[in-house]
Amino acid sequence: MWQQAAQDIHWYRAPNVVLDDANPPFYRWFPDGVTNACYNALDLHVAQGRGDQLALLYDSPVTDSKAQYTYAQLLHEVARFAGVLAALGVEVGDRVLIYMPMVPEAAIAMLACARIGAIHSVVFGGFASHELAVRIDDATPRVIVAASCGVEPSRIVPYKPLLDEALAEARHAPEHCIILQRAQYPADLIAGRDHDWARLMANAQTVDCVQLNANDPLYILYTSGTTGQPKGVVRDTGGSIVALRWSMKHIYNVAAGDVYWAASDVGWVVGHSYIVYGPLFACCTTVMYEGKPVGTPDPGAFWRMIAEHRVSVMFAAPTALRAIRKEDPAGEHLAKYDLSRLQSLFLAGERCDPATLAWAQDKLRVPVIDHWWQTETGWPICANCLGIEQLPVVPGSPARPVPGYEVHALDAQSEAVAPGAIGALVLKSPLPPGTFTTLWNAPERFRDAYFTRFPGYYETGDAGYIDDNGYVFVMARTDDVINVAGHRLSTGAMEEVLADDPDVAECAVVGVADAIKGQLPLGLLVLSSGALGSPADVVARSIEKVRKRIGPVAAFKLCTVVRRLPKTRSGKILRGTMRKIADGEAWTMPATIDDPAVLQEIAGALGELGYPVPANGSGHAESR
Ligand code: COA
Ligand code: AMP
Repeated sequence: MWQQAAQDIHWYRAPNVVLDDANPPFYRWFPDGVTNACYNALDLHVAQGRGDQLALLYDSPVTDSKAQYTYAQLLHEVARFAGVLAALGVEVGDRVLIYMPMVPEAAIAMLACARIGAIHSVVFGGFASHELAVRIDDATPRVIVAASCGVEPSRIVPYKPLLDEALAEARHAPEHCIILQRAQYPADLIAGRDHDWARLMANAQTVDCVQLNANDPLYILYTSGTTGQPKGVVRDTGGSIVALRWSMKHIYNVAAGDVYWAASDVGWVVGHSYIVYGPLFACCTTVMYEGKPVGTPDPGAFWRMIAEHRVSVMFAAPTALRAIRKEDPAGEHLAKYDLSRLQSLFLAGERCDPATLAWAQDKLRVPVIDHWWQTETGWPICANCLGIEQLPVVPGSPARPVPGYEVHALDAQSEAVAPGAIGALVLKSPLPPGTFTTLWNAPERFRDAYFTRFPGYYETGDAGYIDDNGYVFVMARTDDVINVAGHRLSTGAMEEVLADDPDVAECAVVGVADAIKGQLPLGLLVLSSGALGSPADVVARSIEKVRKRIGPVAAFKLCTVVRRLPKTRSGKILRGTMRKIADGEAWTMPATIDDPAVLQEIAGALGELGYPVPANGSGHAESR
């Protein structure tokens, strides 16, 4: 299958070997192929006579601006920015860190890196300076490309001061920073280090694509793990082109000329795969939207975009639909627009709850497809592949494994569980092309975190079940990762921030259910005996610290002080029980708890935060 799929892309030298499996789990797809991702995204289509087709549409309700680029125009911009980078000394294998909002220049910078073989690492704009510093130190970029600011509906976010703070904290110093000056908040530039994007572009020479080995890294994208040290997911060049090109046709069922819109952000994997690379590899028109599903200006924003830009296939997160549904349950805004070109809506980032699915089906009258994937895989693991055969939609399931993936639900002994029984969801090795090939600077962590617990399998970190019809149901994470508004966050990282306070003796962060965002982090603090601050002060300080160190995207606003954390007698914090109490679910007093009164107190504290104390929450000890 992959040998054939590889024939759909451009190679300078076609691969003779499809898979090198000599060193598991470090599999290498198409190891002797030579190609270039930028060539496949742009030059190829221009060479094939599609230069005048629209490649990228930019629509920004928050700045009240729009722009569009044909393939020929986008190629010209990318080739010039590649010239800018090359002139600053960027070479094959150098890292370039990109910290930008949803503006076309972010895609231009990514593609320019791919053009010259530099490895880009995009950092989401909603992360704060400390997270940026951690990524700068890990990726050690030669150049950083940033915008002067991002524009959120309620405020301007000055990115440049965040970058300056991050560089003050980081051990590594890039040689150059290139700053895209935005009119909303131009930045002060530091002479010698900072350069103005527009000035450099005005004098730039275009440069051609560099021929790269298929296994040369295309990018690093950091994602949350169980600790404060994010994982640098590495994607290679050849496998990514083959897999993404294949997925556009077989999963999303789009062809050259179709308008494909993923309402995500370039800082996330969806943005890499399905705002920038996938649609361009497939010669579609891709859409960059700098706005929100609601409030920019109203809950009809998505529907306006679909109608105005003639979108055939859309990709969004369920949380976005929940936000729209809350404000416009009857679909009155939706009724104002002509959505007749829309063929399907794909959802991912979190499980699509059946109520949201039913609402979207009812209002849109097109297939609404939940599909499951992760930063690590880079493209869908399970989906209803509309380009192959449309399966019946089963609410709550992202359908069956996509060709190339073999999914199993296993118990702790690596034995398959019965159909319908919950197990750890694992994927048989080797993973298909386009999935991650290692973790940057951390090959042992790659092996240990993903391939050790279940020998021969990749551990997804998700738990769920597979039914009698082979439909997969992804129900929960097995680790400390939570999903807030479709964003993957580490509770461990938040705990590290909270613990870094002399007044905090101990803390725990758990993910609790939220009607719009899916989950929200809830912090529980135990104060030190000699704490100087009052509980209210420590809570306020903690909320501010998480926002400052991790970023507003963590949406860390629920926090309270408790006398003790509930623990088993062996010292394990009972996070699951606390989550159940907060979610109003039935819970029983764990038999192994060391101090039963603590959970009752926590239920009371949560009640004060506005959480319902469940009727049966009085709890009683399980019989032993
Ligand atoms: N730069 C700077 N700050 C950002 C940011 C960015 N790129 N993106 C988000 N933020 C900030 C927001 O301003 C907000 O700050 P606040 O606490 O001061 O209000 C905070 O981070 C949380 O943002 P967000 O998650 O967008 O929440 P919201 O309450 O503003 O909007 C939704 C709620 C549901 C509308 C929104 O989360 C959404 O559209 N989610 C879809 C997510 C998505 O597409 N995920 C991709 C996975 S496929
Ligand atoms: P990320 O790496 O940020 O894309 O987050 C990946 C995680 O989000 C997965 O491991 C799941 O926990 C969750 N996720 C993504 N898509 C789905 C889905 N369709 N159904 C259930 N969970 C999902």
